[in-house]
Amino acid sequence: MTHEVSMDWTIFVILPVVFQPSLSVLFTVEAERNMYESQFGGDVVMGCRFQPKSSDPSADLKVTWHWIKPESDREVYQMNNGAERSASPEYQGRVRLLTEELREGWAKLKLSRLRINDSGTYQCLVETAEGADYKTIALSVVAPYTAVTKRLERTAEGDGVLLTCQSEGYPKSSVVWQDENLQRLRANTTSEPTPDQRYKVTSQMRVSSSDRDRYTCNFTNDGRSATFRLPEEIPVPQKKNNALIVILSIGVVVAVVSVAVLMYLRRKKGVQIDKDNEEERTIPNEDAMEENLRVFLKKHYSQFFGEDVGRSWGAFGLEELPHKLQNNEGQAVKLEALLPEAGETLFLEGPPGSGKTTVAHILISSWTEGSTSPLGLSSLRLLLHVDCSAVERDLFQEVATQLSLTEKTSMEDELRTAFTRSSEALLLLDGYREGNHVFDVSLQRFLRDRGGCRVLVTACPGHCPTLREAFGTGGVLKLQAQTV
Ligand SMILES: *[C@@H]1O[C@H](CO)[C@@H](O)[C@H](O)[C@H]1NC(C)=O
Ligand SMILES: *[C@@H]1O[C@H](CO)[C@@H](O)[C@H](O)[C@H]1NC(C)=O
Ligand SMILES: *[C@@H]1O[C@H](CO)[C@@H](O)[C@H](O)[C@H]1NC(C)=O
Repeated sequence: MTHEVSMDWTIFVILPVVFQPSLSVLFTVEAERNMYESQFGGDVVMGCRFQPKSSDPSADLKVTWHWIKPESDREVYQMNNGAERSASPEYQGRVRLLTEELREGWAKLKLSRLRINDSGTYQCLVETAEGADYKTIALSVVAPYTAVTKRLERTAEGDGVLLTCQSEGYPKSSVVWQDENLQRLRANTTSEPTPDQRYKVTSQMRVSSSDRDRYTCNFTNDGRSATFRLPEEIPVPQKKNNALIVILSIGVVVAVVSVAVLMYLRRKKGVQIDKDNEEERTIPNEDAMEENLRVFLKKHYSQFFGEDVGRSWGAFGLEELPHKLQNNEGQAVKLEALLPEAGETLFLEGPPGSGKTTVAHILISSWTEGSTSPLGLSSLRLLLHVDCSAVERDLFQEVATQLSLTEKTSMEDELRTAFTRSSEALLLLDGYREGNHVFDVSLQRFLRDRGGCRVLVTACPGHCPTLREAFGTGGVLKLQAQTV
């Protein structure tokens, strides 16, 4: 009798304990992918899915992302019951949890402006009242090699010529040299780390100035290459006679300008020119190149925007603009403020219909007409306009399309070179909105590498938070919707 009673009692107490684990579902975390590969300067979103979902992410959920390899363990991000913990300085401003997806059972971490040393193994740990679990994910950040810079110089002694190719990227690339007959040649390739942890790879080869051949250097990682044509590209030897130097230089400049003008004219007529499918930058003749671009762009924009601008000036003229333009504190600013300082990025924000595109067109027409309007554009040598309303490719590919450059590679590269080099150049991005990955990454890369180029971005408020945070050095101007 007593025995039976105690049995009943044990069943009562023990049963729930034994069956408890199988009543609740096992809590698990799964990685969306085990491995991500992303580009230097770009973004990555790494995802972990947890089950069961948390009923209230703001009260019963802790998500922690760690970077655990190759060096010491460090915390990248933590969110505990809705409270975010700011990460180590390494990640400040570059890391975000996509909190809107927590409710769906996703702990997704977005890492922006990727650096080479963001590579490694990450761990996502999710804890709820139901349990805790984690998974690891590998991230590899690569940097595509930049356009090859080539240099050709006579050696100090003998009749040798030294050919140099240089480019930057990650990981380290080997460089293969070939002659016209595709014979491989021996070269001296060295690499040094850049401050942003990519590699600057330099490859040199010595040939004789009496050679008649075509030499190609090829950065094998991305197939970036450049070609030297000998003897045509060998620089004219230095002469002692000053008068002769002057005459020769004038001759060379005239010849270069005429050749360049001829090439543009031929290209415009659609004559097929045999071009290699390669991208290269040549150092000499930059001034002639810049002047050609200037002529080309002015002509293009005066044809393209001529009538359009005439109309918009009527609707919303220069007189009205000063009343609509304000700085971030709401104070009126002068029209000159629209021109960013050298090397600066300025944002012009305004709601739809406030006249951002009209301002862009007024800037273009003042530049093409060379007018001495109060905009202060007279010192500007180059202006490049990008209509960002429907971009889908790389920045300079978009430029090439919008300028109707059929013969893409060479002029696209000239533009890239000129706009990276000149502090009297303005890149005008009209109606920019973040969201096209390829364009965004290429734009960020350009903004990082451009030297003195001035950049004006027009956008609706809130359309380019990442860009503003990363590059908004020149400040923000606002356009009011209503005229005062
Ligand atoms: C290779 O190039 C580097 C850098 O230009 C130079 O220091 C080195 O002496 C060269 N080595 C050879 C074998 O030419
Ligand atoms: C990672 O690289 C950046 C520069 O790209 C540097 O500022 C930072 O200190 C590096 N971090 C580590 C842990 O080496
Ligand atoms: C450069 O090398 C890559 C890889 O070896 C190859 O695919 C590409 O065709 C080469 N490009 C040129 C211009 O030789």
